[in-house]
Amino acid sequence: TSADADHGHGVGDDGDGPDASAVPVTELVADPLRVPDVHVELVARAESVTLPSGESFDGITLNAVTPGPEIRLRQGQLVEVVLVNESVAGGATLHWHGVDVPAAMDGVAGVTQDAVLPGERFAYRFVAEDAGSYWYHSHQVSHEQVVAGMFGALIVEPVEPGGADGPDGADEPGDPDEPDEPGGTASDAVALLHTYPGTSRTLNGTAGEVRHEAGPGDAVRVRVANTDSTPTAVWVSGGPFRVLAVDGTELHGPTPLERQRLQVSAGGRIDLEVTVPASGAVRVQALGVSLLVGPADAEAPTVPAPAELVDLLHYGTLAPLGFDPTRPDRSFAYDIGRAPGFLAGVPGIWWTINGRMGDDVPMYMVREGDVVEMRITNGSGEVHPMHLHGHHVVVLARDGVAATGSPWWVDSLDVGHGESYDVAFVADNPGIWMDHCHTLPHAVEGLVTHLMYE
Ligand code: C2O
Ligand code: CU
Repeated sequence: TSADADHGHGVGDDGDGPDASAVPVTELVADPLRVPDVHVELVARAESVTLPSGESFDGITLNAVTPGPEIRLRQGQLVEVVLVNESVAGGATLHWHGVDVPAAMDGVAGVTQDAVLPGERFAYRFVAEDAGSYWYHSHQVSHEQVVAGMFGALIVEPVEPGGADGPDGADEPGDPDEPDEPGGTASDAVALLHTYPGTSRTLNGTAGEVRHEAGPGDAVRVRVANTDSTPTAVWVSGGPFRVLAVDGTELHGPTPLERQRLQVSAGGRIDLEVTVPASGAVRVQALGVSLLVGPADAEAPTVPAPAELVDLLHYGTLAPLGFDPTRPDRSFAYDIGRAPGFLAGVPGIWWTINGRMGDDVPMYMVREGDVVEMRITNGSGEVHPMHLHGHHVVVLARDGVAATGSPWWVDSLDVGHGESYDVAFVADNPGIWMDHCHTLPHAVEGLVTHLMYE
């Protein structure tokens, strides 16, 4: 049963493989003879799916399940995932959402590869360089295939316990060979939020409530991933919590929270640390579903979403970014609007970028090593969760108000109507990279541009 959110059903290994971290990353990817530390085969099949709730729909499974198998890696490992398309009409791909893989492995049909047709297979190989919570999904007709079930969780556990994502990470004592203590917490639980065609919302494929067993006093990292096409609120009852990470990057100095709600961008992930109270349990809630963390039979109240929102612009404490965003090599303005016109020859009212549509939207050109600054504004009337492939951007300001909290690195950022965000990043991953709205129907309606290296 999928009611147990423990990671026992996943694939991955126990870290006995060769020490990949000792070899430069580019060599690993370029060396086709190197044996991967983790090998996974995912067979995609179009079939009717019935949820534990009894609801059914025409779906897509991976190895006969949806969500697909959890892929759990250890930082530095070389993974090979072979996608076998058994029967998904029109072809499919796999995109590693939030993982900054080499461009050829990015899984964007029509840009980095052709769609894998029924009867074909494609091997993805990449090194899991950064620890964190990610997910994977098809990037072919994704507004249909992701919804239908072609997605799963991808977790990269840090080599160093303490959740260190890099040299700036917190230094906590612990056995570096113990991969099961990300963030110094006792255990972790994955919570994939998803709504299948015509069904109620699910958490790890189950409508309603899912349990994760943990003892009194245990701190549990709950990895919430929003695979739906709209931003979602997430909140906690039964005990205090902290926000450990956003989009796979650890936050600096996360303080305890109690009564606030969080907003998880479409495609975004938020890692929460919850601590099981001496009696009872903690409930992590989103609209229609919840994850109950505690001893078997322990209960926690179901509560309505709190009014107060955690503003990640001001959460946690400042820390060095690792580059200087005040001296950018490139500055771009990215204004989202809506206008009547023709998109690929079809008349309609479409999303625009800087007033342009579809093939008329220029690419953002950068050179490797550039510090890039971007101002994203939105006057289109709706929120757009913008997702840049292959890179993480740090949020510098919103509506001209500078960030005062932890560096807030994202790969998926909600830009509300009337808002303006200043973000920056280092162009360190050559290729052609999609930058699009993760409300997936909006991408079909033209809200797509690309970042391209000269
Ligand atoms: Cu999660 Cu371009 O996608
Ligand atoms: Cu959108």
